[in-house]
Amino acid sequence: MIEFIQADITCIPVDGIVNAANDMLRIGGGVDGAIHRAGGPGLREDFLRVRAEKGSCLVGHAVVTVAGALPAKFVIHAVGPVWEGGHKQERLLLYQTYYHSLQLAGELGLKSVSFPNISTGVFRFPKADAAVIAYQAVLDYLSAPESGIERVVFVCFDSENLQLYKALKEKEEYMSNLRRFLDAQESYYDTALDEIRRGRKTSHWIWYVFPQLRGLGSSRNAEYYGIKDIQEAVAYLSHPILGTRLVLICEALMGVSGKTAFEILGSPDDFKLRSSMTLFSGIPGCSPVFNRVLDQYFGGVRCAYTESNMARNH
Ligand code: APR
Repeated sequence: MIEFIQADITCIPVDGIVNAANDMLRIGGGVDGAIHRAGGPGLREDFLRVRAEKGSCLVGHAVVTVAGALPAKFVIHAVGPVWEGGHKQERLLLYQTYYHSLQLAGELGLKSVSFPNISTGVFRFPKADAAVIAYQAVLDYLSAPESGIERVVFVCFDSENLQLYKALKEKEEYMSNLRRFLDAQESYYDTALDEIRRGRKTSHWIWYVFPQLRGLGSSRNAEYYGIKDIQEAVAYLSHPILGTRLVLICEALMGVSGKTAFEILGSPDDFKLRSSMTLFSGIPGCSPVFNRVLDQYFGGVRCAYTESNMARNH
């Protein structure tokens, strides 16, 4: 269960409180300062022990201490990324910060975990982006088979963050259905990228690497991995792992020279690529690479089925 409240995180009883720490494990201000003040000497002593032992913590990862006087068993000191404009993998790193914190909590056998809005203070991560990433990471983790966590609380300090999380609740169904792509890509994405880089697809992964609108094909895979509507396509592109991977493999396609889509993918996968690019190039604010693939491989001609169905459910 996912909850969101506006409160001071040090006052909410849970099994594990996640802290917004820094890579040098220096005790800072913001929520970090509040957690250390409320945790008192018990937390401080354990934190200094962990810092002496580990020295630092990588961005996207976390260290664990006892919680001292806080109403919790443990504090998970997670290191989010500093926002530097969005081109230094900040989105992926923030996703990993949440996901790894939950993995640690799961390993400790915790049932309830609270999060502040990591990186959105001193580290300047845009709040709206950060909320989508945090929510997606939590949904992905909770739907993973190994998850034993029953309750995640996003503790927002300001009302702006609270409103952002409330708005995401309505998109939860779309965001949680993306797990099927993560599962499929876990085994096949690297192979797909490698095949594209070598200029010849030799195995079967088209449905979940270049997703298309549902209804284009009638096979079990086409149905299962079919994108339901534009909202699901938007959620797919906003996913820090899935969206990044789609752009990456399209860039790899653009790097293949002197071959047609049919020569690289065979048929009907060349048409599936065109449908996928038609779908994703229609999402406002998307990467220009989708249109470049359409231009290079299809002379700019788009998939008529996808276009008309996108118009219908817009
Ligand atoms: N409870 C819940 N949230 C809080 C609290 C609190 N008591 N105090 C602050 N916040 C919120 C802020 O409003 C912000 O939305 O926590 C969010 C994260 O802000 P920061 O604490 O500045 O954390 P971050 O942006 O991740 O920067 C981390 O700041 O204090 C240092 O040591 C810390 O170097 C690290 C850096």
